[in-house]
Amino acid sequence: MLELRPQVAADLPEVGSRRLAVRLTADALTHVRRGSPWVFEGSVESLSLTGDEQPGDLAVVFDARREFVAIGLWDPASLIRIKMLHAGAPVQIDADFWLQRVTAALDRRATLSEDADTDAYRLIHGENDGFPGLVVDRYATTLVVKIYSPIWWPHLKAVLTPLLAAELPTRVVLRLARSVTAPSEHLDDGSTLVGEPSQTPVVIRERGLQLEADVVTGNKTGHFLDQRDNRSLVRASVGAYPKGAEVLDVFSHTGGFALSAAAGGARKVHMVDVSAAALEAATRNFTLNRHIHAVRDCQVRTTVGDAFEVLAQLRADDYSFDVVILDPPSFAHAERNVAKAEQAYFRLTQAGLRLLRPGGLLVQASCSSRIDDESFYRIVHEAAVHARRDLVEIRRTGHPIDHPVGFEYGAYLKAVFARARN
Ligand SMILES: C[S@@+](CC[C@H](N)C(=O)[O-])C[C@H]1O[C@@H](n2cnc3c(N)ncnc32)[C@H](O)[C@@H]1O
Repeated sequence: MLELRPQVAADLPEVGSRRLAVRLTADALTHVRRGSPWVFEGSVESLSLTGDEQPGDLAVVFDARREFVAIGLWDPASLIRIKMLHAGAPVQIDADFWLQRVTAALDRRATLSEDADTDAYRLIHGENDGFPGLVVDRYATTLVVKIYSPIWWPHLKAVLTPLLAAELPTRVVLRLARSVTAPSEHLDDGSTLVGEPSQTPVVIRERGLQLEADVVTGNKTGHFLDQRDNRSLVRASVGAYPKGAEVLDVFSHTGGFALSAAAGGARKVHMVDVSAAALEAATRNFTLNRHIHAVRDCQVRTTVGDAFEVLAQLRADDYSFDVVILDPPSFAHAERNVAKAEQAYFRLTQAGLRLLRPGGLLVQASCSSRIDDESFYRIVHEAAVHARRDLVEIRRTGHPIDHPVGFEYGAYLKAVFARARN
């Protein structure tokens, strides 16, 4: 089994023996007992203060009778002050605990690990798998660990040990959320924790298609793994066009949807993204799959630019498509952005529909957790009515199995496949 690079092992803080005893408000206690992974700053009534508590210290929640309720990780600089790990009977947070958690997470993905055509998927999906603020993705034999909170530094070795044993990776890359400060240069964003650093993107397989993933500097951890099933559905859907569909892939990133459409028999694909680097990778992804006849025969076009402006220009230039895919980034990063985000989805649906031929297929997704499913579907339909298009839903999709929804606020992804009757 591979081990942490020596400098990395030396720079990772050890788990302290400190255990903070915490009392919560009655309301928070009820939520924690029901499995909520988050305890907010204002819900902490009292704390057995040591004065030098560190991120990742174990926080043990007791009730008024001093009975154990739950245990989590203390996050002193975050509004979510405790990220809960477990509620119920008392447990030790030790190597065995992490082994069981990791094993349960891997078991949930068994159908993916057994799929010989796919070697990139999420292994640990944060709170939803019982690892609040931690994501681990598999990209072929590279694992990418993304840390959203410093609470993980002292526990990283213990979490990685069963992953290194079970997944037999050749490399582990660290990614940090913007809010997380690296404790040392060996633990900075993009650093290699295990194995040899790589200067080139990892090439992954997704349902038999090859794609580059820039695991060191790319968006998220390198690829939008959560859209795998929707990309497969697009591949299946374009097969229904005997002369080959013309497909518009808006917010295409590295072209996963467009490539799937091409593999499904699309005659032309047009990818639009604001990132020139993403579209260059998308072009390379088509080259990587040229051994597939349908991909080789597909005409590929890219446009770098703001989606709303490009869609308006395509409309002005009289373009139209059989399939329009709209997969934007989250439009609502905070509660105060929700109204604006709803307007943006509305405008986007309208702009997409203006380019969709009668009988064409609209595929629209949202990854804004603050916009719930029903609001999103309502907005898409209202926009269609406003655009005088008769939309018939074919299906709604949600989370793939490697992005399970494990608590009340765990869902964020929804998509609709709908046919325009006129
Ligand atoms: C959710 S990702 C799309 C993932 C992609 N569909 C896939 O399957 O891999 C959102 C993409 O939108 C792009 N983007 C963000 N703002 C944009 C804008 N205003 N216009 C066009 N693209 C934008 C980002 O560069 C990113 O690649």
